[in-house]
Parts: sequence; C-alpha cells; structure tokens
Amino acid sequence: MMSTDPLWYKDAVFYEIPVKAYADGNGDGIGDFQGLIGKLDYLEWLGVDCIWLLPFYPSPLRDDGYDVADFLTVAEQYGTFQDVKRLLDEAHRRGIRVIVDLVLNHTSDRHAWFQESRQSPQSSKRGFYVWSETDRKYEKARIIFIDTEKSNWTWDPEAKAFYWHRFFSHQPDLNYANPEVQQAMLDTMTFWLDQGLDGFRCDAVPYLFEREGTICENLPETHDYLKNIRRRIDASYQGRILLAEANQWPTDVRPYFGDGDEFHMAFHFPLMPRLYMGVRSETRDPIIDMFTHTPEIPPNCQWCLFLRNHDELTLEMCSGEERDYMYYTYARDPSMRRNIGIGRRLAPLLDNDRRKIELLHSLVFTLPGSPIIYYGDEIGMGDNIKLKDRDGVRTPMQWTMDRNAGFSGCDPAQLYLPVVADAVYGYQAVNVESQKEAPHSLLQWMKRMISVRKRFPAFGRGTITFLRPANGKVLAYLRRYDDVVLLLVHNLAESSQAVELDLTAFAGTTPMEVLGEARFPTVTERSYVLTLAPYGYYWLDLTLTPSDGAYGIEQMVL
Ligand code: GLC
Ligand code: CA
Repeated sequence: MMSTDPLWYKDAVFYEIPVKAYADGNGDGIGDFQGLIGKLDYLEWLGVDCIWLLPFYPSPLRDDGYDVADFLTVAEQYGTFQDVKRLLDEAHRRGIRVIVDLVLNHTSDRHAWFQESRQSPQSSKRGFYVWSETDRKYEKARIIFIDTEKSNWTWDPEAKAFYWHRFFSHQPDLNYANPEVQQAMLDTMTFWLDQGLDGFRCDAVPYLFEREGTICENLPETHDYLKNIRRRIDASYQGRILLAEANQWPTDVRPYFGDGDEFHMAFHFPLMPRLYMGVRSETRDPIIDMFTHTPEIPPNCQWCLFLRNHDELTLEMCSGEERDYMYYTYARDPSMRRNIGIGRRLAPLLDNDRRKIELLHSLVFTLPGSPIIYYGDEIGMGDNIKLKDRDGVRTPMQWTMDRNAGFSGCDPAQLYLPVVADAVYGYQAVNVESQKEAPHSLLQWMKRMISVRKRFPAFGRGTITFLRPANGKVLAYLRRYDDVVLLLVHNLAESSQAVELDLTAFAGTTPMEVLGEARFPTVTERSYVLTLAPYGYYWLDLTLTPSDGAYGIEQMVL
C-alpha cells in the first residue's frame, strides 16, 4: 500500500486540494473533511500518492485561509480535529499521504498574538511582529500583491506604530529575529506532525527574516532557521517532507535544498510559464533554457512540477518581454490579470484544446521532478474571471451533472462560490461522473498516464539529456536510470512535424511506445526519423532488443 521508501516523494504524484472547494459533507455549501474523506476512493482510483491540503485553520478568510488566526485548531466549517485524524487514517489506508500548508511568514491580524502585540510596547507579544516608527525601512523589498498594496508597512492606530507585511496589510509578518517566534512556529510544526501528517507545503519561505540594505528575500538567517526545522524532522519524524514555496530563480531556489538538509522539495516556479511559452511560440528554447539554468540538486531532493495552482499563474519569474508575451497571448482581456500574473485555469488557458492539455501534462509527467495536479484540472475544469481576487480558480469541484455539480446538496445561493455553469466548462458538460463513463475522456487519460508513469522510476529519479534536433519545434530528451533509457518526444507545434534524431548510441534497439505498447522501427546507424501529429508526443522505451519487442510466438525475421 503506502510505500515505505523514505524517498517516496521522488516518485510520487501530488494533488492539491482546498478542503473548502472539494466536497461538502454536511450540506452547508462549504467543502469539509467529511466530504473529502468521501472522495478518497476517487483519488486512489486516479493514482494520487500524496494530497496537499490548503490552510484549514480558523481564519477571517480575507486571504482564503492563508490569513491564519489560530495555527493549532481546525476551522469549524471544515470539521473537527477528529475529522482530520479520520482523514489521515482513511488516506493512509489507501496508500495516500497528506501534507498541509504551514504558513510560517505571517498571521492574520485576528491572531491572538497580533491582538496582544498591538496593545502596547510592553506587551509580551510585542516582539512577535515587526514594528517601526517609520515606514522608510527595508525599502528595497518589493511589493508582492501590487493589485491591493501600496507599501509593505501599515500604520496601526492602536499600536501607534507601523507593522511590516509582505502580503496583504491584514497579514502582519512574524518577527523571526525573535527566538520566541522561532520556537512557537517549531512547536506549531511538531504539533501537526504528532497528529500523523506526512509533511508540509511551506508557504512564502523566502520572506521570514528582514535585514536593512537587502531585498529581504532568501537571507542566510532564513536558511539557518529552515535548516533548524529540517533537523527537527530528521530527528523525530522520518519520512515526512518539507516542500518549499519559493517563487524565485532556480539559482535562488537551489539554497533551499541546502546539502540535502533543508527542504526535500521545492516547486519549480520559473519553468511553469515557459511551458506555456514553448507551446504558444512553437519553440523548445524557453524550456531547454530553463533547464540550462536549473542547477543540480542533492540526491535526496526533488523538484515539484506544476501547470496551475490556487494562485494566479505567476509571471514574477519572467523578464518584462516574456511577461508582455504571456499577457498578450494568454490574458488579452485585462480582467484575466491578477497581480503579476493570470487568474485562469489550465483548460481555458489552452483554449480547451485536449491536445495541448495532454502535451503540457506529458511534459510535467516526464521532466525531472514530481508532478502536482491542481484539483479539477484532471477533468479540464474552467474558471470564472468575474470573481474577485483568485476566487475564479477556486470554484466547487465538479463531480456530477446534478445540482451544484454534486459538490453540495445545499440551496445554490448558499454555496461559498458559484459553480462554473457556462456552456463549455459548466458542470453539465465537465464533471467526474461523465468522464469516468467515457473511456477516452481527459480524466481516463490522466489516470492512464499516471499509472504508466509509475512503471518507470526514471521519471522521478533519472538523469536528463536534451537532444537538439534541427527541428526546433520538437522537444526531445532522454531520461536514464539504472539500465532503463526513455526517450520523450514532444511536438510543440500546431502542425504535424518530422524530426531526425541522432540515436546512434542506441543502434540495434527497438523503441517501444509505452503508452500503447507499440513497437517502433529499430534504431540504426542512420538518423532516426519520427513524425508527430500536431501537439503529439511519444514516450519511448529504448531498452528493448528487437526480440523483446516481438509479439506472440512468431519468429521475427530480421
Ligand atoms: C502564498 C499562497 C497564496 C497566499 C500567499 C500569502 O503565496 O499560495 O495563496 O495568498 O502565500 O499567504
Ligand atoms: Ca460543509
């Protein structure tokens, strides 16, 4: 059932879930643990190895739960502590691990620490936050939520001082220079680990410490603290993982892996927009370039590859020119933009083109790293750009064509957000139930790809070598692990393409297309010609000899 390998995360398929959006068990219009537990069979069927739950702690929900008012309990609307335990048991029984968000950098201004802190300079919690008499400190730090914030400082009339915040002004940053804060957050972490969780997706880690004269990101003191957290895990919680949300250039993310003694995993932020650029501009360059700039990571570490998540499709790690290109091609309507990014889901971004959706998934399933799927993208759910902030990509999961998409039995007016109901992406057209019935649906395709991926450890653990054929619209690479060599070929273009690959090193082998188990012509000393349909892709196993590839008992004449 559940793999006992301590490096399980290197091969795992992850799946991101906002509890609120997934399934409503008690019919109040808000997703909850009870509802989620009822969907674990579905996740097991799909082949998911680990789910990541977005924050479910008490919160005024002004940042959808990332504004945490109490780290040590469960928000009432999602259930009880017992429900969390039951979820863990039920998930583990199905071989599914569970990681949750650990919001280290800040709290809600409703958190008791902040309430106490603001009261007076003598408060025992004063030092939990970053107070200042002036708003002219740390001026080199950029503003992240540019749609709503003008400064990283906000005046608090009660405290009669400014407080520091890297995100919303209602989310004051914790003061990591204070050892009491360091301890309190370590205790928060161990509290949840003691409940049996499998680890954390650590929110906004670059911003923990501030220092004058710097951009207040990725500081050495931040890394020291994170290494401290890791030591705690290694000492008492083997097999649990830390996954970093550090939206930075690969060279700046690299230190978050340390010498294999900081994070186990980190999202590969800059790769993501380049996958979209590659397919839109029909060239492999942005993708290969990004790997040229991706440093080697320690053997016990892993990248986490994604196409979409609950936030805007961030363009922070793009040059001005690349950003313009992305806006121009993917968000021409200004109401699709959010902060420095695009507030849309995968399927609408790709014009609901099944071929492009498959192609991009094929890339995140086969490039170095572990893939993560954003809930609903496995059925090609749509978005609602009219909703505020990032709510447009956080609408109820579409289970069936029944009322409220089968998400909840409540009066539709009671839903936490309306279900998507347009003609193309609406729940009558796009839902789990009907895609389960249809053998060639996107959902069935995803299930099949996940299961094939699992047969080859090379995807999670192998080396990568890019081939550079003359046809620049084709992205081809080898993944090698132990004796197995896989060749992945992707046509980024809207038209059919032919490509000549230099496979002379494999002369004599008979490539096997592993998705359909079809034999391809044997490799010779000459260049190997492949033709690809528009947005077509092949997963070829190069480790077979011609006789391995034979069907039945017939003797092959060579
Ligand atoms: C992370 C979360 C995002 C949240 C922000 C502030 O970037 O992914 O949703 O708004 O942190 O907590
Ligand atoms: Ca509910």
